[in-house]
Amino acid sequence: MNSTDYPQNLTERPSGEKGPLQTDFNATFGNDLDYPRLGQVTFRRGTLTENQEALFNEHWPQLGKDLSNSVIDIDAWFGRSGHPTIVEIGSGTGTSTAAMAPLEKDTNVIAVELYKPGLAKLLGQVVRGGIDNIRMVRGDGMEVMMRMIQPESLDGIRVFFPDPWPKARHHKRRIIQSGTLNLFASRLKKGGVLHVATDHADYAEWINELVTVEPSLEYKGWPWTDCPQLTNRQVITKFEGKGLDKEHVITEYLWEKK
Ligand SMILES: C[S@@+](CC[C@H](N)C(=O)[O-])C[C@H]1O[C@@H](n2cnc3c(N)ncnc32)[C@H](O)[C@@H]1O
Repeated sequence: MNSTDYPQNLTERPSGEKGPLQTDFNATFGNDLDYPRLGQVTFRRGTLTENQEALFNEHWPQLGKDLSNSVIDIDAWFGRSGHPTIVEIGSGTGTSTAAMAPLEKDTNVIAVELYKPGLAKLLGQVVRGGIDNIRMVRGDGMEVMMRMIQPESLDGIRVFFPDPWPKARHHKRRIIQSGTLNLFASRLKKGGVLHVATDHADYAEWINELVTVEPSLEYKGWPWTDCPQLTNRQVITKFEGKGLDKEHVITEYLWEKK
C-alpha cells in the first residue's frame, strides 16, 4: 500500500507489524470480544477511469471524507439538522445505497467503503441522479465507527453482503463478530436499527451464532413488520429474480438498540 493511501495520524501499530494502522479494540474497551482482522487484500486500491477521476476530484471534497480522527459533524455535512442518520458499511458500488436513498429522503445516509472505484461509481450515481442525502467515507468501517461517529448518534447501521471469507482460516476476517456488534451498538441511539444481509449459507450460520451475543441489541429476526426504517434493499439479485440457484438463500437480520 502506498503511504499516501491512508491517514498517518492514527494509533501506531506495535513495531514490526505491517499493514494499515488499526485500533486495538480489546485494549481500548478493556474487553475480550472478537474483532475483525483485516487482511492486506481488503485494502484494495483500484484505478478510476479518466471520467471517474475528474468527477471524483470535483465532488469528493464536498460529498466524501477519508478516514481520520475527526468526528463528523453530521448536520453541517448534510446541511440540515435533526434528521435520522444511517451508516452503511461496505457499500460496494452503491447499488442498494443509491436505490434506497431516494425512498428515504428524510434520512442522511453515510456509505463507508474501502474500495475507491466503488465509491467513484456511487459518487457518479449521486451526482447524476441529484441524490442529496448520501455522503461517503473511504476507510475501514470499524475505524470509521470508532473515530468519526459520535457514540449513540445513529438511527441505523447497514451491512449488506459482507465479504464471506469462506475458508475457515479466514473466518476471523469476517466483519460480523462479537466486538463489531458491541461497537455498532455503542454508535446506535436507543431504538436504532442494525440490518445485516448475507447470501452465503456458512456466513449465515456464523451470524446465527452471534444474534444474541450483544446484550444491548435486541434481536428482531426477519421480517420485522414494525421496523421504523426502510428495510427493503430495492435490489433484486439475479438469484432472487430468476430463482436460478435453489441453494442460494438470502438471510437478513434486524436488531434494535435497547
Ligand atoms: C461483497 S461486497 C458487497 C457490496 C455491497 N454491499 C452489495 O451488496 O453489493 C463487500 C464490500 O465490503 C467492502 N468492505 C470489506 N471490508 C470492509 C471494511 N472493513 N470497511 C468498509 N468496507 C469494507 C468491500 O470492499 C466490498 O466492496
